[in-house]
Amino acid sequence: MVAAGRPRRSCLAVPGSSLKMLDKARGLPADQVFLDLEDAVAPLAKPAARKNVVAALKEGGWGGKTRVVRVNDLTTPWTYRDVVEVVEGAGAGLDCVMLPKVQSASHVEWLDLTLTQIEKALGLEVGRIGIEAQIENAAGLVNVDAIAGASPRVETIIFGPADFMASINMRSLAVGALIPEYPGDPYHYILMRLLMAARMHDKQAIDGPFLQIRDVDGFREVARRSAALGFDGKWVLHPGQIEAANEVYSPAQEDYDHAELILDAYEHYTSEAGGRRGAVMLGDEMIDEASRKMALVIAAKGRAAGMRRTSTFSPEG
Ligand code: GLV
Ligand code: MG
Repeated sequence: MVAAGRPRRSCLAVPGSSLKMLDKARGLPADQVFLDLEDAVAPLAKPAARKNVVAALKEGGWGGKTRVVRVNDLTTPWTYRDVVEVVEGAGAGLDCVMLPKVQSASHVEWLDLTLTQIEKALGLEVGRIGIEAQIENAAGLVNVDAIAGASPRVETIIFGPADFMASINMRSLAVGALIPEYPGDPYHYILMRLLMAARMHDKQAIDGPFLQIRDVDGFREVARRSAALGFDGKWVLHPGQIEAANEVYSPAQEDYDHAELILDAYEHYTSEAGGRRGAVMLGDEMIDEASRKMALVIAAKGRAAGMRRTSTFSPEG
């Protein structure tokens, strides 16, 4: 199954308190920007940040980027004002609200109802604004199936590794890095759990930040792990990480070409002209309906990334 939605290979975090970064983010080649009102903004700076974010969304100039605002989580006193101010002020210029530290389906249901209220009051299309649910603690992970299915507005399930590591007392300060004392990938279970919930409800799965922003090779290494499992994209905290994310979460050219070949070959061989065959050889590889489904995933990612084929299919004589 191909998770529905807009491309989100690179999701750029922009602190709502920084006018300079809000301005600079417009010109960067990220698939998504999220203007942050949560942890990148100090408590005393939050009211001013809301105003900056509203002004930045109203001003526009974001090109084809998905425009998201991360509000504060529902254990704080700020969430309702974040949502009301941002959506009333700039709802038409906003694609999704990101809710961090989601712990149960009721958090998503609250946001869904609140968005509906504001959309109705303002005469905006009801249901257009999506929800991104960030999972950052054990309760969120245990309840992630219900969270992913809590509203049709949910577009993504996002891993928040820094908060998650703190909440489960993981003995590491290096987000995403392997832990020498542990003989395996300490994130494997969490990533797979999030991915299963996301795919069960046809949502996108997004990996969280990598904090060593000057270590682009380190970023690539961590990103490759979640991309290999099937994640759709990753947060980027610095312009230097954007290109790496766009590359890692797009298929390799060779894989994209191969996927398109499988689709063409399968279509041909299952047709009347191709002999109505269900399982055939493509070079040294046997392909069937399951191969078509796998190829469709890679081809869809490549097409969404604007890739072009460098080979064509021709039936063997
Ligand atoms: C992001 O919010 C994280 O906690 O990693
Ligand atoms: Mg967090």
